[in-house]
Amino acid sequence: MTRKIRWGIISTARIGARHVIPAIQQSSNGVVAAVASRDLARAQDFAAAHGISKAYGSYEEMIADPEIDAIYNPLPNGMHGEWSIACAEGGKHVLCEKPLARAAAEAQQMADVFAQKGLLLSEAFMYRFHPQTDKVKELVDSGALGKLQFIQATFNFMIGSEEDIRLDPALAGGALMDVGCYCLNIMRHLTGEEPVEARALADFGARSGVDERMVGVLRFPSGVMGHFDCSFRTLFTQTYEVRGADGRILVERAYVPFRPDPEAPVTLRLWRRQPGSEAHEYREIEVPRANHYVLMVEDFAAAILEARAPRFGAADGVANMRAIDLLYAAARGS
Ligand SMILES: NC(=O)c1ccc[n+]([C@@H]2O[C@H](COP(=O)([O-])OP(=O)(O)OC[C@H]3O[C@@H](n4cnc5c(N)ncnc54)[C@H](OP(=O)(O)O)[C@@H]3O)[C@@H](O)[C@H]2O)c1
Repeated sequence: MTRKIRWGIISTARIGARHVIPAIQQSSNGVVAAVASRDLARAQDFAAAHGISKAYGSYEEMIADPEIDAIYNPLPNGMHGEWSIACAEGGKHVLCEKPLARAAAEAQQMADVFAQKGLLLSEAFMYRFHPQTDKVKELVDSGALGKLQFIQATFNFMIGSEEDIRLDPALAGGALMDVGCYCLNIMRHLTGEEPVEARALADFGARSGVDERMVGVLRFPSGVMGHFDCSFRTLFTQTYEVRGADGRILVERAYVPFRPDPEAPVTLRLWRRQPGSEAHEYREIEVPRANHYVLMVEDFAAAILEARAPRFGAADGVANMRAIDLLYAAARGS
């Protein structure tokens, strides 16, 4: 039998329970070998509920377990850096939730430690593994839209609880950190460039102190301008639109394409100018459903097994944090 990567899960986070643990369990090259919680009883209950054989009552104990190859880190944002580095010190590869760190400097420190240890670090932006993202990238790169002009991206939702970690500045909450980071990521992914200039307006919550809504604009070296909004206080919306001189693509289920219907295929809408005319051709491109979490964990495990880089490495996560830093500086007027 081919070797499988033995994953440890650091914390009993909801995202692990709902999506990433089932994805590892479905994957062809990984098994969930252990879970660790700050509380042993919580770890044991969680392990029993999710069919995980080992439960630890501290993160340190799991990191020290020689039978774990890789750790999935879905801790609150403000703990990603410290605990990913602790995993590296314990010799573990890490797939870390987004955003990679509190800021670019911390993300760079993480990247440096993993590089020194010869371990892999990747940011868990799962939407990049969905075939619809590949299809859009292929269309853009093929020149189907002509010279790119704008990318407009939105990720909004209504936060369910005022106690959510996303509203805690000490845990590096905020709408840009939580969902705006996807909007920046897709802009960077499609342009293949890093932003050189940023503007932003934000509403910082009177109680929370974190950005609960933000609008931002980014300029890329080739001239593409990206504009986005992210929010904790708005109807759920997850779109982006790419516009060039000759066409545009609208993606309506952009980042969590399984919502609202996990069984339904996703549809890309494409408008193109007909050559020599002002008339537009309209096409719908249906992309088959896929579990992007499975594709993500399989790529990371395969990278370890094949001693190669994952599709998206630590440097990409550091660059996304640099864009986040630029926008916070702009929103705070500094
Ligand atoms: N890629 C995606 O689709 C996606 C979706 C949602 C969230 N996320 C990311 O995943 C991460 C977790 O989000 P979530 O909503 O799943 O979080 P969550 O349910 O609130 O879980 C966070 C876990 O961290 C542990 N923890 C340690 N110190 C903590 C503290 N001081 N306060 C609260 N929890 C603490 C807790 O586990 P123990 O008590 O068991 O140690 C807790 O269950 C975030 O970085 C978020 O951005 C990604």
